[in-house]
Amino acid sequence: MTKSITNSAMQQELASAFAFRHACKLFDENKKISADEFNTILEAARLSPSSFGMEPWQLLVVQAPEKRELFREFSWGANGGFHGTQGQLGSASHFVIFLAHTDVTMRHHSDYQQQLMRETKQLPEEVIGFINQAFEKFQLHDFAIEGRRQIIDWSGKQAYIALGNMMTTAALLGIDSCPIEGFEIQKATQVLAEEFGIDTERYVPAVMAAFGYRAAAPHHEKTRRTMEQVVQWF
Ligand SMILES: Cc1cc2nc3c(=O)[nH]c(=O)nc-3n(C[C@H](O)[C@H](O)[C@H](O)COP(=O)(O)O)c2cc1C
Repeated sequence: MTKSITNSAMQQELASAFAFRHACKLFDENKKISADEFNTILEAARLSPSSFGMEPWQLLVVQAPEKRELFREFSWGANGGFHGTQGQLGSASHFVIFLAHTDVTMRHHSDYQQQLMRETKQLPEEVIGFINQAFEKFQLHDFAIEGRRQIIDWSGKQAYIALGNMMTTAALLGIDSCPIEGFEIQKATQVLAEEFGIDTERYVPAVMAAFGYRAAAPHHEKTRRTMEQVVQWF
């Protein structure tokens, strides 16, 4: 990787980006993220790592206000109800719904995975066979991922890595964000099936995220446990 700034300057950039990022409750409706910068944020998701490289996620960028409104009633973490505002749903420049794959299981050697390994990764057949075996052992024995709920959770965990990378990328660009788990999964799944044509047998909503520019300074100072409380060295 070629670097245009020193490590020490980069460390400062990162420290200020992490201090800048906060869970933004209300965005400035008049400020939109440029297509180019939002594409960089999406690239952070696309290039994120995932267990076995399975990329068990799908991202929906929901821009049409009427589509966003479909989630308002049951998205208490994004509808501004606690603050008496439009919330992130009504004010974000860009609003993303992360879907988790439900059929990422080697028990059935899902079409999605076989296609990913053949077409995207262009792996030779013997390598695919090896990965299929290794993944089957990982899922059924090592991590004991069994039912649909556990598969969704595993896929969702991978999606959260993409979410984290997107928020850090946004912060480095001076763009605000908010991760959102404050919604009813069952109702969101129904909206996605009925209004977005999503095959909810194969995909379910894992988490949402809003991006834009803060309407006002954060209401609270950032508080965290100390490094000593968080990290143990052995
Ligand atoms: C997975 C996840 C889900 C969250 N869901 C919501 C949400 O629905 N609505 C909201 O306003 N904040 C939400 N938050 C923000 C957290 O409350 C916030 O990150 C935490 O209180 C720390 O504050 P800070 O991010 O401003 O430093 C969520 C955070 C994470 C990581």
